[in-house]
Amino acid sequence: MAEDKILLEVKDLKKYFPVKGVKGPGVQAVEGVSLFIRKGETLGLVGESGCGKTTLGRTILRLHEPTSGKIVYDGTTIFEGEDPWQRDGDGHMTKRRVPKPKSVDMLPYRRKMQIIFQDPSASLDPRMTVGEIIGEALDIHKLYGSKAERADRIRELLAMVGLNTEHANRYPHEFSGGQQQRVGIARALAVKPEFIVCDEPISALDVSIQSQVVNMLEDMQEELGLTYLFIAHDLSVVRHISDRIGVMYLGSLVELAESYELNRHPLHPYTKTLLSAVPVPDPEVSRRRQRIVLEGDIPSPMDPPHGCRFHTRCPYATELCGREAPAFREVEPGHWAACHLLNK
Ligand SMILES: Nc1ncnc2c1ncn2[C@@H]1O[C@H](COP(=O)(O)OP(=O)(O)O)[C@@H](O)[C@H]1O
Ligand code: SF4
Ligand SMILES: [Mg+2]
Repeated sequence: MAEDKILLEVKDLKKYFPVKGVKGPGVQAVEGVSLFIRKGETLGLVGESGCGKTTLGRTILRLHEPTSGKIVYDGTTIFEGEDPWQRDGDGHMTKRRVPKPKSVDMLPYRRKMQIIFQDPSASLDPRMTVGEIIGEALDIHKLYGSKAERADRIRELLAMVGLNTEHANRYPHEFSGGQQQRVGIARALAVKPEFIVCDEPISALDVSIQSQVVNMLEDMQEELGLTYLFIAHDLSVVRHISDRIGVMYLGSLVELAESYELNRHPLHPYTKTLLSAVPVPDPEVSRRRQRIVLEGDIPSPMDPPHGCRFHTRCPYATELCGREAPAFREVEPGHWAACHLLNK
């Protein structure tokens, strides 16, 4: 159950990846994201592949060092830095000198903030046994007393994620994809985290076992009081499990609202197109609903459109949209969106 307390707050977070030999900021993967997550809440994050979801998740954990913005975790500012990039009227960017960002030693936060990866087979070291993989997480944070306690804890974690405790000596390739993801989850839970970025944890799994893994993550959340940032590329996965949902397009959040509200009453044109693509079981509703298909590809984050980043594909774009970026603002209580159409 989500509490009122805010566990994580992100303000105007940016992450640019410099590109060798190219002048300018490079790949503008995350462009000024602001959000908060309440303790015990699941915030779903959706958007097309390449829109910056993974980069946002990793930048929040400071697995990527942010370019600028602010991250506050449980009352402590873990990063704060000014944006060195200045934009002139036509979108041209120049770099200026800014004070060195303020940040904290992340080791204690590495324990509290964990990640579950999209591809379990790529995120587990093939040369280590499952017991060693889970044990390594315990060792880094010195979380056990004796060898026997350590072994007990590894068995306990395997049991928690529904794996056979006798299998600690097996290697990742001896497990199915779903079982490998359970190992990844056990590794994340080993250090008793508070907050977990679940980065498309079921996308690489067989459809038949996806719901098992999602149910397990939900049970773990309830049992351990966890807070999730749950990333998915389509709404059908996150709409049932999220308290609130944020929609990303080309590095920025375009809309954020309670899950029910976002599904029933989307405000942003991009969210409407995403929702029109979600299959509905009721054939009557399905027939009535118009499927909106976007023209063109998602533009490159190395050279994003000026103004509203969605204007090159938006059916409602006006001259203003190509000139000025709409602010991400609270249009209705608890419902944020960035679109000039909503500013009347
Ligand atoms: N380490 C990196 N170096 C350079 N570009 C990156 C890096 N990681 C991601 N990107 C780029 O940033 C953009 C966002 O990627 P990503 O966050 O992986 O999107 P998503 O998770 O939504 O699919 C993409 O254009 C991707 O190519
Ligand atoms: S600001 Fe303009 S281009 Fe952007 S979503 Fe709204 S109407 Fe479309
Ligand atoms: Mg990703």
